[in-house]
Amino acid sequence: MAISFLDLTRQNLEIESETSAALARVVKSGMFILGPEVEAFEEEWARFCQVRSAAAVGSGTDALSLALVASGAVRKGARDEVIAPTLTAAYTALAILNAGGVPVFADVDPQTYTLDSKAIEAAITPRTRAIVPVHLYGQMADMASVCDLASRHGLIVVEDAAQAHGAHLNGSSPGKYAHAAVFSFYPTKNLGAYGDGGAVVSDDPELIARIKVLRQGGHGPALAGDTNGLNSRLDELQAAVLRVKLRHLEEWNRRRRKLAAIYHDTLQSAAHLRLPAVRNLEAHVFHLFVVEHPERDRLRAHLDSRGIETMIHYPYLLHQQNLFQQIGESSFPVAEGVAGRIVSLPLYPQLSESEVRIVADAILEFEA
Ligand SMILES: Cc1ncc(COP(=O)(O)O)c(C=O)c1O
Repeated sequence: MAISFLDLTRQNLEIESETSAALARVVKSGMFILGPEVEAFEEEWARFCQVRSAAAVGSGTDALSLALVASGAVRKGARDEVIAPTLTAAYTALAILNAGGVPVFADVDPQTYTLDSKAIEAAITPRTRAIVPVHLYGQMADMASVCDLASRHGLIVVEDAAQAHGAHLNGSSPGKYAHAAVFSFYPTKNLGAYGDGGAVVSDDPELIARIKVLRQGGHGPALAGDTNGLNSRLDELQAAVLRVKLRHLEEWNRRRRKLAAIYHDTLQSAAHLRLPAVRNLEAHVFHLFVVEHPERDRLRAHLDSRGIETMIHYPYLLHQQNLFQQIGESSFPVAEGVAGRIVSLPLYPQLSESEVRIVADAILEFEA
C-alpha cells in the first residue's frame, strides 16, 4: 500500500461543499482583491491568534519582509543584521534579504531544533536589529528567553510562525510575545490556501496599518512616496477558502497530535530512532513529524521500497548556501550534527491511524 507524504485531495474532499459555496460566493460578488472576504478573514485570524490585528498578504515570505520593514527592524540601505536559525526554510533568510537586511545565522537547540539563546547572544553585533525565531516543524521556540534577550539588547522580534498555526506557549499564540508574527498559507501548511498567501499579526495596530500600505506598493498617506512597498495582496478567493478551513483548524491540529502520539507510542522501542521532543502538547501542532536516524538515507530507501514517501526538512543549512554569506565567526555544531540524520515522516490530519501504524511497522522492520 503506497503512503504519500501528503495527499491534499483528501482534505479538499472533506470540505468540498463548504469551499465550493465560498468560491461561488466570491465569483458572484465580482470582487477579487482586498474585499470583504479578506477583511473578514483578517478579523477572524487576529481573533484566532488572540491579537489585535492582522494584515493578509501574498505569501509568508512577503509577510516576513513586510513585518521587518514595518517594524523598523530593517531600514533602507542600512545593512541591518537580523538573526535567524540556520535550520529553517530558505524563505526565512530570503525574506530578510528581500527586506534589505543581512541574515546572520545562529545554531539551534538539540531538543526542539528552535533557536538556541546562547547562540543568539553570540551572534549579536552592533549592527544587529532584530531576531526571527522560527517555530520549526510546528513547535514554538523558547519565546521567554528570546524576548528577554531582545529586550536586554534593544532588539525587535518577529516570529516566523509559517509552520505553527494554532500553537500556544503558556496560553499565548505567536504574535503575543513579539512585535509581530508571520504566517504562510502555502497549501501544505496546517492552514493552507488553494494557492499562495500569508499574514502578519500583531498587537500593534499601527504596525499592521503600515503593512496594509506597504502591501499595495507603498502608496498611501502614511508613507507618501518615500518607501518601496511590494505588490503582495491576498485575493478574495484565497481568503474565502481560508475562512472555511479556519473553522476546521483546531480539529485538524488535534488530529495531528493524535497521530503524532501513535508514532511516539509505537516507535518507543526503535533503539536508533530519535523521536521529536515536545516542549508541551499545546506548543506543538506537528506541521511536520521529524525523527532522527543515524542511517537516515538507508532508512528512507527502505521506506521507499515499501511505498512510503518521506522528505527532508531541510537538506541544506542556510549558512552553507552561497546566497547567504555568513557574517562573522560562527559555529553550528547542533544543526550540522542533525542535518544528516533528520527525516520527515508522513503526518497530516486525513492520514488514517492504520497508515501511521504501517509507517511505524516499516521503521521497526528496518530496525530489526
Ligand atoms: C519556516 C518558513 N518560513 C517561511 C516560509 C515562506 O512562506 P511562503 O512559502 O508562503 O512564502 C515557509 C514556507 O514555505 C516556512 O516553512
